[in-house]
Amino acid sequence: MSHLLTQLQALTIELSISSGQINIIADCFCQTMIDGLLGKYSPLKMLPSYLNKPSRDERGTFLALDFGGTNVRVLLTELFGNGIFKVHARVSSPLRAIDDHYNYISNHSTGDQLFDFIAMQIGMIVKQDQTYPLGHTFSFPTHQTSLNTGTLIDWTKEIETQNVVGHDVTTLLTAALTRQQLTNVLPKAIINDTVGTLLTSAYTDPTTTIGSICGTGHNTAYIEPCEPLTKQSMIINLESGNFDQLPFTIYDKILDDHSEKPGSQRLEKMVSGHYIGEQVRIIACSLFDAGLLAACSNKKILAKPYLLSGAHISLLQEDTSENLDVINNWLIEDLDIKNSTLSDRQALKTIAALVCTRSARLVAATYLGIIKHIDPQLKNSHNIAIDGSLYEKMPGYASALRETLAEALGQKVINVTTTLTKDGSGIGAAIATAIAVHVTK
Ligand code: GLC
Repeated sequence: MSHLLTQLQALTIELSISSGQINIIADCFCQTMIDGLLGKYSPLKMLPSYLNKPSRDERGTFLALDFGGTNVRVLLTELFGNGIFKVHARVSSPLRAIDDHYNYISNHSTGDQLFDFIAMQIGMIVKQDQTYPLGHTFSFPTHQTSLNTGTLIDWTKEIETQNVVGHDVTTLLTAALTRQQLTNVLPKAIINDTVGTLLTSAYTDPTTTIGSICGTGHNTAYIEPCEPLTKQSMIINLESGNFDQLPFTIYDKILDDHSEKPGSQRLEKMVSGHYIGEQVRIIACSLFDAGLLAACSNKKILAKPYLLSGAHISLLQEDTSENLDVINNWLIEDLDIKNSTLSDRQALKTIAALVCTRSARLVAATYLGIIKHIDPQLKNSHNIAIDGSLYEKMPGYASALRETLAEALGQKVINVTTTLTKDGSGIGAAIATAIAVHVTK
């Protein structure tokens, strides 16, 4: 057997998550949730949202602000009840210009500059003679003491804007709206995107108990039957991307060591779209370094961190042609690697598949952990609402996730569904605002 094949076999063993490991991770995740709820040390932040399942009778017209990464979106959304809604207007703008003439997410910008820019985008949709209740989907770990206040605990997703960590985000937004003479826009609720996804799905399907994002970032929220502060049921944002009791490989260590915040967001670094391309690159580099790929002379190109994106990993998996021509063209045209052999390309494709399957299985293990906590006997139906490019578009991802649930639950998997819930951040913010307006009426 060739050295390359031997090494790929070793990688397959290293990156595979067995059924036994799935159960161990699920148990551990469940225990870590309980620790977090009890206020003990836990990598899971268990952040209260001050929201419960929607009644499905939420109605009205609301502004939804969605800030979760490199883009900001504003939607004017009308809710009609029972899952029906209409988006009347929307704007979407990058927070970082392609030519870098502005960049509100780097450490050269301040929170005031960032929120002034966001307020200006809101100004593009609103009329001066109307008032607009606004819901804000802010997809970062935020400590909330009410539905409309939230202090940023820490930036994730490599965002670094100054003077936001430790500040109440609603205060920053309100001050910026005032500076932009938009006092007719009234922030009413701040939510995480996982909470928005859960709300949006539960607006049509009352069996939804879990909302999750499998995209650039990864995180999950669920309905806790007994939230410790209120002793009532409440949606909790787990910030599960920070879970860290996992079977790390040397490649995970390399990625983490070179990231903005080593030691944090360890699950997210193993599973999310922002990092899977980098994992594949690091593993491919190790094969290049060992001289196992014919295209070795082009090693320097692969040495560039974050060269590969989630879309590239999709491309690697989508190519089913006999000679992997699509991969070959991409290597030639985008990476200037002209001398790849079929086994080089097969190796890259295998690595991509291993990394993605591992991601789907780890994410499924965390869902199993949540279900163990909220319904140990699995007596009720649970719909898991999922949004994000990995779940929606990555070949084989959704099926690997469902197969892992079936493998662990056997026949009881009939009680667990997963659904793609698109636009949960936007619609969820509108639903949260409807709930807030109703409560404060
Ligand atoms: C990151 C954020 C989290 C968010 C997730 C998906 O993990 O910390 O709040 O939900 O990305 O956008």
